[in-house]
Amino acid sequence: MKKILVMNGPNLNLLGTREPEKYGDKTLADVEALCSEMANKHHYAVDFFQSNHEGELIEKIHEAGKLFKAGELKGVVFNPGAYTHTSIALHDAIAGVGGLPVIEVHISNVYAREAFRHQSYVSPVAVGVLAGFGISGYGMAIEALISRP
Ligand code: DQA
Repeated sequence: MKKILVMNGPNLNLLGTREPEKYGDKTLADVEALCSEMANKHHYAVDFFQSNHEGELIEKIHEAGKLFKAGELKGVVFNPGAYTHTSIALHDAIAGVGGLPVIEVHISNVYAREAFRHQSYVSPVAVGVLAGFGISGYGMAIEALISRP
């Protein structure tokens, strides 16, 4: 079965207890269950990965680039957390592997928040961006990825 990689960056392991007024009360395990259900419905499997370390996220993108080229991976749904707004290295990793479709997801509407969240280094190398739909955004991103030719 072809795979979709769902990646989450720093502090997203705290979902459920972290600023629930902004991110809701669902946990990362709930996000994983939602993603698996959505992907399985379309006969895809999910590889779910979270890290608080930029280098680990970069290495996972490198690995995803290889799997994509081998035809084993449809693409990546990625919530880079705060690294969205700081990481040229993640931008370069996505650009560097070449052709890997990445959909950027944010639980909150980053554009309705502080100005420092309005810049994303990932958006220019993403095929699309979803923000502000809560954890449902992950499911929407999976469907968007699957609907791509
Ligand atoms: C976030 C938004 C980021 O600005 C923040 O640093 C996060 C979560 C979101 O899902 O809304 O960690 O990516």
